[in-house]
Amino acid sequence: MYFPTYRPRRLRRTPALRELVRETELSVKDFIYPLFITFGTNIKKEISSMPGQFQLSLDKLDAEIEEILSLGIPAVILFGLPETKDEIASGAYHEEGIVQLAIRKIKELAPELLVVTDLCLCEYTDHGHCGIIRDGEVLNDITLEFLARAGVAQAEAGADIIAPSDMMDGRVGAIRAALDSEKFDHIPIMAYSAKYASSFYGPFREAAESTPSFGDRHSYQMDPANAMESLRETAMDIEEGADIIMVKPALSYLDIIAAVRAEFDYPLAAYNVSGEYSMIKAAAAKGWIDERKVALEALMSMKRAGADIILTYHAKDAARWLK
Ligand code: PBG
Repeated sequence: MYFPTYRPRRLRRTPALRELVRETELSVKDFIYPLFITFGTNIKKEISSMPGQFQLSLDKLDAEIEEILSLGIPAVILFGLPETKDEIASGAYHEEGIVQLAIRKIKELAPELLVVTDLCLCEYTDHGHCGIIRDGEVLNDITLEFLARAGVAQAEAGADIIAPSDMMDGRVGAIRAALDSEKFDHIPIMAYSAKYASSFYGPFREAAESTPSFGDRHSYQMDPANAMESLRETAMDIEEGADIIMVKPALSYLDIIAAVRAEFDYPLAAYNVSGEYSMIKAAAAKGWIDERKVALEALMSMKRAGADIILTYHAKDAARWLK
């Protein structure tokens, strides 16, 4: 492979040649689009740090779902903003909890659209942590019982995929056992396996109103300095019954996506998180970058690193751009 015998530019000369040898393809079929569902009526409130993303009340779902379907996006992931919060996250597992209501509504509107549910307590606890608190500590094993209840409530409402994002130890196993014992053995789990304690979640916490009222999430989410640990976390989730594994965030963690891809032959998702979206939006609004090109390049990099599935706020835009 030496110049001048080999000339890499030969295969880059025309669009047709480049397309012929392209290694990675981005498709709307890869995307899961996040939705923030709020209590109340007639609400479509833009999230200031995430231009183009909204908190939506149930009655605003019709138009939203129609648009998602028309763009060919195959799946949504739901986050809930309940009317009231308490220390045991009741809204997460109540039959009439906001996400359970949204699942039923979406399934009525579009039975073929995949409904993934983020499974966590932080949107429903008055302190904003992802678990039950005692003496300022996030308790692990007690939290598992609440997560399991929430998973069953979501499945009962009609969720297609349950996606635990809390990072308690043993949660995939606990949720799997609860689903199986309630006759939901056919419902897959997409585990946030390597989920880091990342500052790139900042805008999301405005969107989901889930900022912890004290402390931070470092006692349960992973240390951004660790790579090998992501393999242990992922191996555990697979042992406990995960069907799809996930790395989150995506852009600053492409090395983790590639490492997990190399080690495991399970479907792999990457979460292109809120801060990654907001940075592109902000720079584009200033005219510093080309939003379309930069967003598509970022999404492509996640696939190139090894992701099969991408959760992204850019899903609707990207679907239009890829048409
Ligand atoms: C809930 C959850 C979070 C995100 C997804 N699920 C926030 C957090 O862990 O603090 C972040 C998503 C994003 O930033 O886009 N635990």
